[in-house]
Amino acid sequence: MRGEKIKPVKALANAKDNATKPMKLGVLISGRGSNLRSIIEAVQSGRLQAEIVAVLSNRSGAEGLTHAAAAGIPCTVFPHSDYADRETFESALVSRLQQAGADTIALAGFDRIVTATLLRAFPQRVLNIHPALLPAFKGLHAQKQALEHGNKITGVTVHFVDEEMDHGPIIAQAAVAIEDDDTETSLSARILVEEHRLYPQALQALASGRLHLSGRTVHGGPE
Ligand code: GRF
Repeated sequence: MRGEKIKPVKALANAKDNATKPMKLGVLISGRGSNLRSIIEAVQSGRLQAEIVAVLSNRSGAEGLTHAAAAGIPCTVFPHSDYADRETFESALVSRLQQAGADTIALAGFDRIVTATLLRAFPQRVLNIHPALLPAFKGLHAQKQALEHGNKITGVTVHFVDEEMDHGPIIAQAAVAIEDDDTETSLSARILVEEHRLYPQALQALASGRLHLSGRTVHGGPE
């Protein structure tokens, strides 16, 4: 049985036709921003039909801000320590994202836990990428956790965000084999290659309206 279809973004009622508009993406980062860069490249090459309308960082020194600036994408820094609590901080993010016209939010190495304040503003439109095959190895240092556990396979997961950490419905996963001589650095590098491939593909699946949600199972993700 097919579940609820996650709708692509439709043109406004007064538009000339009812064509599907490109997804308007807000990307939240905290650091290096290599996933942001892969999303920018996918948009520029036409593999991802989206416009990145805003990049927000909670850290002023985030390297990812330079990728956004180089691509001419408006960036804003919201130091979380400037805000009294999580809700006030997220309200500021939401205001900026709405002002920029974002309809979909990609967390890309954003190191703050998000709450209902953001999720209510963008229902079923907040995505995250995690460097493990969820539900294994949630939280920080997922690659190190997989090595320490003695896993032979780990990987990457793109999922919808819900109010539990690293928990929402899974859109796409890719496996990465763990070699005997892997270190956290070598394993993280191989996982990152898969992250850069998978995140734009998962976003494109959402942008194209292919995704359906049945319970917590997402149908129609990338192959
Ligand atoms: C990635 O490993 C991502 O899976 C995790 O944080 C890291 C961010 O890397 N959530 P980058 O900032 O995109 O380079």
